[in-house]
Amino acid sequence: MRRSIDVIATAQDAMSRNLEGHLAVVIDVLRATSVMSVAIRNGAKQIVAVSSVEEAFSLRDSGRFGDVLLGGERNAMKIEGFDLDNSPYNYVNECVDGKTIVMTTTNGTQALCATSKAAKTLVCSFLNVDAVATEIAESDMPVSIICAGTEGRFTLEDGLCAGRLVSRVLSLGDNLILSDFAVAMKNLVDNSSKNLYEMASEGEHFVRLQKKGFGRDAEICLNSTMTLPTLRVKEHFDGKVYVVGE
Ligand code: MLT
Repeated sequence: MRRSIDVIATAQDAMSRNLEGHLAVVIDVLRATSVMSVAIRNGAKQIVAVSSVEEAFSLRDSGRFGDVLLGGERNAMKIEGFDLDNSPYNYVNECVDGKTIVMTTTNGTQALCATSKAAKTLVCSFLNVDAVATEIAESDMPVSIICAGTEGRFTLEDGLCAGRLVSRVLSLGDNLILSDFAVAMKNLVDNSSKNLYEMASEGEHFVRLQKKGFGRDAEICLNSTMTLPTLRVKEHFDGKVYVVGE
């Protein structure tokens, strides 16, 4: 039987979907899932994604993961008392090597936490989209690609990454049934005369980050020449998730 591939517009939409038996893929291009890839590439041991700032502090104080770094954002800015904001530039090897990072962001970590019922969850951005496409092509589960969005609203850059992912999976020869939204995102990416950066720069969240002085972050996150490995969720526990590299 042919399996399906769907694209879900926001983290909030994902919460009402039945993901049992699905391969879930979470995308938050600007910036959570891109930052996770950069952190793991630069030597972080793992990311523990949590929904709230309070949970992050209490996990650190519990000592469960030893000496951790707290990272993430609210309203795009560093959270008071945290070690790191949500800029990929700050997750350098000297800072994150061997460390567990407890992370909470407005949308990306919420989307991850929403996949607790999925059979498997992968973490995707433009930085590792090829590796994620390969893993999807090698699996036999129905696929739900979750665009994190921003506070319940769809964001263009997540949709573009979902479209790129669907396109890559199909190019690997997989014969999937696409939902209408998956077709729309794929066609947007495949048929545009603009490059990725030009397309994404028309998005609300992109413009907002730029206004706040994070334009450089968008340049890294929209770099489609990087080929970082798949990130996967190793375990869901008490509403939190561990994210690890390959
Ligand atoms: C999020 O999870 O909402 C984002 O990563 C937001 C941001 O980086 O500003």
